[in-house]
Amino acid sequence: MPIPSAEAARRRTFAIISHPDAGKTTLTEKFLLYGGVLTSGAGSVKAKGDRRSATSDWMELEQQRGISITSTVLQFPYREKVLNLLDTPGHRDFSEDTYRVLAATDAAIMVLDGSKGIESQTRKLFEVCRDREIPIVTFINKWDRPGRDPLELLDEIEEQLILEPVPMNWPVGEADRFRGLIDRTNGDFVRYTRTARGADEAPEEIVDPACAEEEEGDLWLEAQEGIELLDVMDRSFDRKRFEAGELSPVFFGSALTNFGVRMILDAMVDLVPSPSPRIDREGDPRALDAPFSGIVFKVQANMDKAHRDRVAFLRVCSGQFDRGMVVTHEPTGKPFATKYAHSVSGQDRETVEQAFPGDVVGLVNANDFRVGDSVYVDDKVQWPLVPSFAPAHFRIARTLDTSKAKQFRSGIGQLDEEGVVQVLREPDIGDQAPILAAVGPLQFEVVQHRLENEFGAPVELVPCAWSTARITDHESADALRGMSGVAVAARSDGELLALFESPYWLQRLEMDQPELTLTKLIAEGS
Ligand code: G4P
Repeated sequence: MPIPSAEAARRRTFAIISHPDAGKTTLTEKFLLYGGVLTSGAGSVKAKGDRRSATSDWMELEQQRGISITSTVLQFPYREKVLNLLDTPGHRDFSEDTYRVLAATDAAIMVLDGSKGIESQTRKLFEVCRDREIPIVTFINKWDRPGRDPLELLDEIEEQLILEPVPMNWPVGEADRFRGLIDRTNGDFVRYTRTARGADEAPEEIVDPACAEEEEGDLWLEAQEGIELLDVMDRSFDRKRFEAGELSPVFFGSALTNFGVRMILDAMVDLVPSPSPRIDREGDPRALDAPFSGIVFKVQANMDKAHRDRVAFLRVCSGQFDRGMVVTHEPTGKPFATKYAHSVSGQDRETVEQAFPGDVVGLVNANDFRVGDSVYVDDKVQWPLVPSFAPAHFRIARTLDTSKAKQFRSGIGQLDEEGVVQVLREPDIGDQAPILAAVGPLQFEVVQHRLENEFGAPVELVPCAWSTARITDHESADALRGMSGVAVAARSDGELLALFESPYWLQRLEMDQPELTLTKLIAEGS
């Protein structure tokens, strides 16, 4: 019988965060290559056009726009360990989805483009990680191209993110003359050879320093100077500070040519903490060997058009998951038989028979399951709620075809449950013209596309003047309803939201009428 805590010790569950184009998809593919999931050989790591099947882009819209909207979970073996990679949505808008995925991960790799450094999306995602105290490993990518000075990049991390960067490797050469990496933990110089289109693992050679100096000349001496400087600055790795999110081990490399990919994978095994007992809503840890429990961090419908189903993704927090087991859905208290459990990678589904803490299971047709829900066996548990963000964009949804009112209603209901947008209803307008509230405007495009394509209900989304929301109560709502430039609508979780056209008007109201309940929602990512 496997012991959950022993299995958990073999797990590493992490996400990759980056600004679009920094190389997240490429790095993910290379992880699969080094994990032996993609067989090596020319063409196996797919060209951009068709490589989407290796990743998460299962929605038509994603393909049209060439971006990744939904998240996926990839599990692969590496060095006797099991790595769970949660893919965060890669689009430019910050969305709530990202936050939820990060709620299910134990660490993150922050990928930076070596010629650009920290970009806007990197900063936002980093802040979410900091908020959740997630340890961050930094990968400075694209070193096979002309980039910025490595020390300048380190300064940028330190100054802009208030995070101490500790280089774990150091590049020898850059761009066309990028030869390899010095492993700072043991001083080895790992020299790589490029392979055609990076389709195979890059052959590695450990070169001793005397040979390296002779063979690499100035490039070697320059790298040594950089390393000496780091030694003087006393930049060394400290596990506690890493786990507290104060320090980030930094790896240079090139995902495209595979230089440094193994080093960063090794770091995931050697540095990243394995799943630990999760703290419940009361503040008590639940032991890894306690009976099975999990938290739902994502719900997705119609991933597979042929199935028209709905999958709730949950992260296992304790115990052992066995397919077929009956679990209790905490919010409703109802039993749910986990007959159809999958691990889902892109469009491929594999049935999961067993899973352990840190793993992700997709439960098909778990229709009552919502993001943030707790699920357990035997000993009841309630995990802390996954917060919803303050929406900053609002639209009114109207069906363009009144004969499709039913499809419209069920589509909106579905997308609401999935958390694609927050759906608000004003009492006198209700279901016919709900207000959609989002953190980023791309969420609206997803709604429009899915309503039309999955539910056959074409809609128009009418822009509205509201720009800010606050949570209020029934008493204050009565007072607010009479004011101009303010609307009050109910969210499906029962919260009442007051919407304001002008943030200044809101500010004045807060000063003039402090008796009104106007509670801030968690700040949006921007
Ligand atoms: P993303 O998921 O973070 O958005 O980035 P993605 O991996 O799609 O990479 C964005 C572009 O950067 C791709 O080029 C990719 O090939 C390139 N890239 C990723 N890693 C490296 C690297 O280490 N070195 C270099 N030189 N380029 C890298 P593209 O032109 O958009 O696509 P493609 O035609 O090359 O596939």
